[in-house]
Amino acid sequence: MTALFAPLTLRGVTLKNRIAVSPMSQYRARDGLANDWHLVHLGRFALGGAGLVFAEATAVEARGRRTHGDLGLWSDDQIAPLAPICRFLTAEGAVPGIQLGHAGRKASERRPWHGETPVDGEDEDQRGEAPWTAIAPSALPYAEGWPAPAEMTEADIGAVIEAFGTAAARAVEAGFRAVEVYAAHGFLIHQFLSPIANRRADRWGGDDAGRRRFALAVARAIRARLPDDLPLLFRLSATDWLEGGLELEDTIETAKALAAEGVDMVACSSGGIGGRERPRRMTLAQGFQVPFAERIRREAGLPTMAIGFLWDPRHCDAVVAEGRADMIALARELLADPNWPHHAAAALGADETFGNWPPEFGWWLMKRERLIEKLGLREPQGTPPTGGPET
Ligand SMILES: Cc1cc2nc3c(=O)[nH]c(=O)nc-3n(C[C@H](O)[C@H](O)[C@H](O)COP(=O)(O)O)c2cc1C
Repeated sequence: MTALFAPLTLRGVTLKNRIAVSPMSQYRARDGLANDWHLVHLGRFALGGAGLVFAEATAVEARGRRTHGDLGLWSDDQIAPLAPICRFLTAEGAVPGIQLGHAGRKASERRPWHGETPVDGEDEDQRGEAPWTAIAPSALPYAEGWPAPAEMTEADIGAVIEAFGTAAARAVEAGFRAVEVYAAHGFLIHQFLSPIANRRADRWGGDDAGRRRFALAVARAIRARLPDDLPLLFRLSATDWLEGGLELEDTIETAKALAAEGVDMVACSSGGIGGRERPRRMTLAQGFQVPFAERIRREAGLPTMAIGFLWDPRHCDAVVAEGRADMIALARELLADPNWPHHAAAALGADETFGNWPPEFGWWLMKRERLIEKLGLREPQGTPPTGGPET
């Protein structure tokens, strides 16, 4: 058995393989409500063979949405439309997971294809989408040209922590079996963690322990509402890539503190805090964030998920086989090919008979494969393509 296709148990939940669908915001919800788009978008990844399918960043408060199109779980009405998605994913052998988040100072933003800039009166005129005031640990704008958020009061902080717990309980009611907290990419929890965005002098800032307090309180609030047999993950930006920002060593300490609060796995990403400084050059290579997953796993002593710029099945299998991460998550590669897990299994010799596919597909594909072989129609590997222009 390959490492990538070995099952993994987190608390009482067993994943059939080590492949997760990374949360991918679709910006297709209205009033935070899931619809057919989300069912089909997520459903195809279950048919494609991923072990764990995460629904996108889902706001725990309306003011914590990044855009008007974000999913939400700030109200009981938002539970029912998510239930069929969980039912479908489960029926097709995937574990349904959800990412819970709050955008903080990155709230009230335009969708990527509308510019990823702050919402203003123009959006209200064109689409009826009004801007709103964001909240954050400190009244520091995300970037130049962004409005300053309101500094959170003690009451705001308490309300948001509570909202994470309540949203987790709603997620369980909808049928999700894993919760990931979005504490990366410059969103609210990351804003508390990073000295670049958190300039508070009270107990929610000031030093490493103060800046970590909010993340730990969120973990505790969720753990209190999540059944013991369901895993809780945190997505962290391992480094801010900026002078004066978070470094991997800080994140290792955060991961240890989260583990003590009952967090079961850290999903290891990086960057996104914003600010005026330009990030130090990130070396973008296949699996460039795997070293974060590897060090956090080794030094904080909890399971990790490697994310980012992963697509080659052999490379992904090696990451898990070499103990650099316990699982991998893919985003864009799965948009390109939702069946990537099935193709990866074939490439790694873990499924030569289309046995991992739903029988409605696999039966036909196997039959076609046998026919192609029988008729000798498959060109041996390495044969140059035919039919090109004559030279
Ligand atoms: C369409 C899209 C939406 C995304 N939305 C989220 C999100 O809601 N939450 C999150 O943590 N990351 C989000 N990301 C980042 C991905 O989860 C992933 O970390 C990143 O794309 C790197 O992985 P990849 O190289 O496999 O795409 C998004 C990425 C894409 C392409």
